[in-house]
Amino acid sequence: MSKFRVRELKSTDTAALLAFEIENREWFESHIDARDPAFYSLQGVAHHIEHYLLDFARGAWHPLVIEDDSGKIVGRANLKSINSPARSAEVGYRVGQRVCGQGLATLALQQLIHEAQSRWQLTQLVAYVYPENAGSKKVLERCGFLLEQPADHDQTAGECRFVRPIHCRSELARDGR
Ligand SMILES: CC(C)(COP(=O)(O)OP(=O)(O)OC[C@H]1O[C@@H](n2cnc3c(N)ncnc32)[C@H](O)[C@@H]1OP(=O)(O)O)[C@@H](O)C(=O)NCCC(=O)NCCS
Repeated sequence: MSKFRVRELKSTDTAALLAFEIENREWFESHIDARDPAFYSLQGVAHHIEHYLLDFARGAWHPLVIEDDSGKIVGRANLKSINSPARSAEVGYRVGQRVCGQGLATLALQQLIHEAQSRWQLTQLVAYVYPENAGSKKVLERCGFLLEQPADHDQTAGECRFVRPIHCRSELARDGR
């Protein structure tokens, strides 16, 4: 595990991120919604990164990447749609097919939970997963997310909704946890 680290996305990640996304495009598209084809170019990825970093600067998004000890990007994880008044956000992550099964998604999700608590003072995280995505469901459950039973009017297009409450530091101190 020590050969990998989780860090924030940078403006200089364009080439490395494009290589990662192209290498794993089929793999990701077999589990999650496909990206716009225009994304798969240096210009497309540069625009994507610029957009994410602007959203990071305004407190709406927290983008992380997982890199190996050679500096290659092998995974990504994001706090998405950070809603400060509601103190909630969505999580998303993807890991390269060649490095799956080594705990990297779990590592990155734990980092997102830490950032959600310590940096953004959030109290709830949500995730949406297709029912057949057994690996992702395992990652969520291992990190304390619980499957929420869908309401009759649910509009999440066949996806399962997982929720994880986060206790803020003052609550933990008060309860002696
Ligand atoms: C889902 C995904 C992020 C998991 O990444 P990962 O780094 O392999 O995750 P981890 O190693 O932390 O944990 C995965 C766990 O699921 C298990 N798993 C994987 N596929 C499985 C399957 N089909 N059935 C049952 N368990 C499965 C692994 O064995 C592992 O459990 P273990 O540690 O007890 O052995 C990765 O497969 C991926 O990027 N998939 C495509 C994109 C995607 O689905 N993103 C999530 C959208 S919600």
